[in-house]
Amino acid sequence: MWFSVATVAALAASANAQATSPPSYPAPWARGGTNEWQDAYTKAVAFVSGLTLLEKINLTTGVGWEGQQCVGNTGSVPRLNFRGLCLQDSPLGVRDTDENSAFPSGMNVAATWSTRLFKSRGNAMGSEHAGKGVDVQLGPVAGPIGRVPEGGRNWEGFSSDPVLTGVAMAETIKGIQDAGVIASAKHFIGNEQEHFRQAVGGLTKFAYSANIDDVTMHELYLWPFADAVRAGVGSVMCSYNQVNNSYASQNSHLLNYLLKNELDFQGFIVSDWWAQVTGVASAFAGLDMTMAGDQNLASGDTFWGSNLTLAVLNGTVPQWRLDDMVVRIMSSWYKVGRDKTAIPINFNSWTLNTTGFAHAQAQEDFTQVNWHVNVQDDHAALIREIGGASTVLLKNTKNALPLNKPKSIAVIGEDAHDNPGGPNACGDRGCDTGTLAMGWGSGTANFPYLIAPVTALAAQAAHDKTKFANVSDNYDLKAIAAAVTGADYALVFANADSGEDYITVDTNQGDRNNLTLWGNGDALVEYVASLNPNTILVLHTVGAVILEAHKNNPNITAILWAGLPGQESGNAITDVLYGKVNPQAKTVFTWGKSREDYGVDVVYTAAEDPLQLNFNEGVFIDYRHFDKYNIEPTYEFGYGLSYTTYKYSNLKIEKLNPGPYQPTHGTTGPAPTFGHIDLDPAHAEFPPGFNAIPFYVYPYISTPVPTGEPQNWPKGATDGSPQPLIGSGGSPGGNRQLYDEMYTVSATVTNTGHVKGTEIAQLYINLGGPNDPKVVLRAFDDLILDPGESETFTYQLTRRDLSNWDPVSQNWVISNFPKTVYVGASSRNLPLSARLH
Ligand SMILES: *[C@@H]1O[C@H](CO)[C@@H](O)[C@H](O)[C@H]1NC(C)=O
Ligand SMILES: *[C@@H]1O[C@H](CO)[C@@H](O)[C@H](O)[C@H]1NC(C)=O
Ligand SMILES: *[C@@H]1O[C@H](CO)[C@@H](O)[C@H](O)[C@H]1NC(C)=O
Ligand SMILES: *[C@@H]1O[C@H](CO)[C@@H](O)[C@H](O)[C@H]1NC(C)=O
Ligand SMILES: *[C@@H]1O[C@H](CO)[C@@H](O)[C@H](O)[C@H]1NC(C)=O
Ligand SMILES: *[C@@H]1O[C@H](CO)[C@@H](O)[C@H](O)[C@H]1NC(C)=O
Ligand SMILES: *[C@@H]1O[C@H](CO)[C@@H](O)[C@H](O)[C@H]1NC(C)=O
Ligand SMILES: *[C@@H]1O[C@H](CO)[C@@H](O)[C@H](O)[C@H]1NC(C)=O
Repeated sequence: MWFSVATVAALAASANAQATSPPSYPAPWARGGTNEWQDAYTKAVAFVSGLTLLEKINLTTGVGWEGQQCVGNTGSVPRLNFRGLCLQDSPLGVRDTDENSAFPSGMNVAATWSTRLFKSRGNAMGSEHAGKGVDVQLGPVAGPIGRVPEGGRNWEGFSSDPVLTGVAMAETIKGIQDAGVIASAKHFIGNEQEHFRQAVGGLTKFAYSANIDDVTMHELYLWPFADAVRAGVGSVMCSYNQVNNSYASQNSHLLNYLLKNELDFQGFIVSDWWAQVTGVASAFAGLDMTMAGDQNLASGDTFWGSNLTLAVLNGTVPQWRLDDMVVRIMSSWYKVGRDKTAIPINFNSWTLNTTGFAHAQAQEDFTQVNWHVNVQDDHAALIREIGGASTVLLKNTKNALPLNKPKSIAVIGEDAHDNPGGPNACGDRGCDTGTLAMGWGSGTANFPYLIAPVTALAAQAAHDKTKFANVSDNYDLKAIAAAVTGADYALVFANADSGEDYITVDTNQGDRNNLTLWGNGDALVEYVASLNPNTILVLHTVGAVILEAHKNNPNITAILWAGLPGQESGNAITDVLYGKVNPQAKTVFTWGKSREDYGVDVVYTAAEDPLQLNFNEGVFIDYRHFDKYNIEPTYEFGYGLSYTTYKYSNLKIEKLNPGPYQPTHGTTGPAPTFGHIDLDPAHAEFPPGFNAIPFYVYPYISTPVPTGEPQNWPKGATDGSPQPLIGSGGSPGGNRQLYDEMYTVSATVTNTGHVKGTEIAQLYINLGGPNDPKVVLRAFDDLILDPGESETFTYQLTRRDLSNWDPVSQNWVISNFPKTVYVGASSRNLPLSARLH
């Protein structure tokens, strides 16, 4: 099986080595439109019309690394008292500050399969960013989606399934933006591994190229971004890597064609930090804002700022393109109501001290920089709820769980215990010490506190008068033997960590080196189980680990995956272990029996530069791959147990009649310009006596203006005449008829056990074609059921749900192949099915 896949990959690899990206120019200009953007667009146009050239440039360009308080700040417009935008990590809370919450990871919230929790978490995170004065929260994440299980940042996103990810993106974005903060959907696109994502460390001169064909792009990687745009996301962040040998920050097919034209994105595209590699070319390709503003970390120079001023003054970049950048930025700002908030930026990313430098890189202006504003509200309760609701019960034999006042328990493993240095001992969580509740990198936040499992379990034991023992040292076999031998239950905790590539932990450079447990974890689990026939295994892992042996060990009576649950970790797992919470979570990735079973892997060494990552497996990642090659996993996608049982019955399908699909026709208006631009270079110089801060990025130029060689810019790049709309586009998320409802599917779900529970009903479809996956997820719902109670799961299948992408017509098409709908409890447990007519 594996060999045939590898052979196909090798053959196709040579064909792909020359992958190129078709040009698409000009960059589509924002239009507001009839949707929710119109009002914001109108306000943005009025604002931008009153700006000077330099003020406009200021809003497109970051001030440089550590130039201001946030991880990214644009320049400001002092004349209008406009402070510029503050962009701040992360997708799970406010990074680099204090008095904030540390939320469960994206992957965890996805495992709840609850749209209510997706949105509540987004809203709580958004309100914390708002309370700190942030304009743009840098999240949520749909890239990486999880092509390779070892991918270092998979946990920042939601799931390796595009539909689950898409729904989670949309609800998270609505939550964040309802709180008055702009969300930034990232990383666009193909950033599926950390190794060689950037040309750093002198290892390669270029970032890798993710070579992705058009069908795979639409049916897998772009899908959740379409949901993000449809949900009204204000910003999209492009990734570091190249796609088809063109950098994502200046790939006109990605930015102009797919995102701004086909998906009709009306907000702004910001670069990942230093992902921009050129000035003018990126402007033409659709980039609207550059971060951190400097060409490289604290390099003091910039591709935009002064250089964009020059490019407008010398006629290379037309005014309409600059105006469009700023209108897009300001549309997003108005859309979420930033004009209605007066909260100043009250923290500083570069120090937690009350006083510090206002400009940290330059070490200038020592003043008060932190007000320590507490933004946590009552979010701890939500974090605990998500922690419990995201814990997947993978195995439960001999009625091991829930625990009920046991006589004795032993809690074993470093992963159950506190990091002796405190939960924030390692910068950006760049270590695996103590219990794991967050991965590492920029996608993190400081913990206000972290409840370790041992703390909550000891408290529960004291309450129940349960005899309690614990050992934190994974290698102290003597102490472990003494603690677990004869205990009613041995609770053993183990983990596996990963993160972003700028930190290497235990030789793992972002991506994991393997799919086994860390810190002697597997040997520890085996040892405990050899001594105690009631061993309960709790996993804090960033994704799949090889579990087959533990699954098959009869002494391991229960296995739970708790993922990366955030600050309430111990309370949440105790809720589940003791049955205060009945597990509802289902696994959001496949647990394979070996790493080879996944068919794709991280490429750890670059034999070429740029490294060519050929996504030849197409849409067949995770469960689609396991299904295609008939590989039996340890636990399949969508799987998870409960303390009760459910029955599925009564599948009904009703055909609706939305009428035929009409491709979008017509043309845009001409590119508008807003206000007057003074083209006199003398007026673009630093004002007399201006005190320029070292390393800071400004819009000003020095005269005389250097003249470069005239260059051949891409054809059409400066063309502001009306442009054709494309058939699959026309409204945010694509042609609005893609969301027409075609069939109503309903099924009955009954709680056949003895306790109340929440069942995640899942709907899959087979699209019938020879190249279609066996099944793909299309919908899900969380049904809360008392014992004996039945509820109806209902979903309206849309045109998009039934379509394949047709690269020839560049549109979605419903094929003639017979289609089958399945409803059930996991991707491989689908008791109900019916043909669509
Ligand atoms: C990459 O190349 C493939 C194969 O030619 C093509 O189908 C796809 O549209 C290209 N994608 C981009 C972003 O250029
Ligand atoms: C551009 O932004 C910088 C930084 O906020 C500010 O010092 C400068 O005055 C701004 N320039 C203009 C022309 O508004
Ligand atoms: C403009 O870009 C050029 C080429 O990258 C660079 O050498 C120069 O320093 C930039 N100018 C500024 C003011 O950063
Ligand atoms: C105009 O300015 C831009 C940015 O500095 C530069 O790249 C380009 O070469 C200039 N063009 C001419 C003709 O001077
Ligand atoms: C915070 O304050 C302490 C004590 O004054 C000082 O040693 C430290 O350098 C400060 N940290 C930063 C990042 O400014
Ligand atoms: C048991 O847990 C406590 C924290 O609750 C810790 O202080 C102690 O070191 C642990 N015991 C062992 C043997 O690891
Ligand atoms: C896998 O990686 C972890 C973390 O580096 C390490 O602790 C473990 O020993 C590795 N497993 C194997 C089988 O090498
Ligand atoms: C299960 O535990 C018992 C001790 O209760 C031990 O004798 C036996 O070898 C264990 N079995 C396995 C598979 O570890």
